[in-house]
Amino acid sequence: MYVLGLESTAHTFGVGITDGKDILSNVRDTYLPERGGIIPSKAAEHHYSLASKLIEKALSESGLKLKDIDVIAFSQGPGIFAPLKVSFQVAKYISEKFNKKMIGVNHCIAHLEIARKFTGFQDPVMLYVSGGNTQVITFEDGYYRIFGETQDIGVGNLLDKVGRLFEIKFPAGPEIERIAKRGKRYIEMPYSIKGMDVSLSGIETFIKRIKNSYRIEDILFSLQETVFSMLIEASERAIAYCGKDSFVITGGVAANKRLNEMGEKMCEERKTKFKSIPMEYAGDNGAMIAYTGFLMKDYQQNDLKPKTNFRTDEVKIEYR
Ligand code: ATP
Ligand code: FE2
Repeated sequence: MYVLGLESTAHTFGVGITDGKDILSNVRDTYLPERGGIIPSKAAEHHYSLASKLIEKALSESGLKLKDIDVIAFSQGPGIFAPLKVSFQVAKYISEKFNKKMIGVNHCIAHLEIARKFTGFQDPVMLYVSGGNTQVITFEDGYYRIFGETQDIGVGNLLDKVGRLFEIKFPAGPEIERIAKRGKRYIEMPYSIKGMDVSLSGIETFIKRIKNSYRIEDILFSLQETVFSMLIEASERAIAYCGKDSFVITGGVAANKRLNEMGEKMCEERKTKFKSIPMEYAGDNGAMIAYTGFLMKDYQQNDLKPKTNFRTDEVKIEYR
């Protein structure tokens, strides 16, 4: 039983294949704007132009043919409409032409499931940090519930916006991480956490104001230290409240070593299990869609249209 998954909610077109146990292939290509943020129509063009080549590559890496695939899973949302509909249309075409079952996967849940798969944790508190999303999530009564979240922008968006202030290209996260390593001096920044919610946009405003008064290394170091401390503090409160025994970080920003270090340290102190996920599966990828499609293979779905707003807690989790 093989599932091929297609991811296209934003900048990345990804194709993954799984048999439910192993990831047999995971290939992708990311649309990188020359300057500024994503232009939706350009992202969609990028995805359409590479779709068949990447599907072929994924099949050849896994040693399979399209006829061996049983289910086509696609990223149903949330996402930016133009790129989002690429995975839907490609999945629909393959499913109709070759008579394969089609499964719509919530992109956020896919980030959660791939994290559970690679850590082996059954029921962790999960910090989901990406461009658009910053949420502390736990599983309760058949749904993934959002315990805490950002009250304004996602942490990845914050990093990308601050990156733009310093002319760092999108996605700025990896370059900010590199520069922050050379930072030495901590500059106090707005630290805003209420219960399990955080507010991040004040930090961008603050950095705009002080940008020319400090070294870039120290600004980006302090940015990471401040934001990541807020996220880990909110996660710790959720762990204490829910009494869960493990913690994992997922989403594009989970590729950040410093964030994982802070998560690990917090867990050590409170005797909670912690594992990082492999970097390859932190950011958007097709394997997480394929794997979640595998978990959902028996779902009967009657609304497969792309959903730009598709909440994590809308999906009834029947496989747990
Ligand atoms: P979502 O729909 O889940 O919000 P997304 O479209 O933001 O997904 P992801 O690939 O999950 O896509 O996350 C991308 C974000 O991750 C970008 O904002 C990018 O700057 C950030 N990022 C990538 N690598 C790192 C890193 N090493 N450190 C910090 N942030 C990173
Ligand atoms: Fe994502």
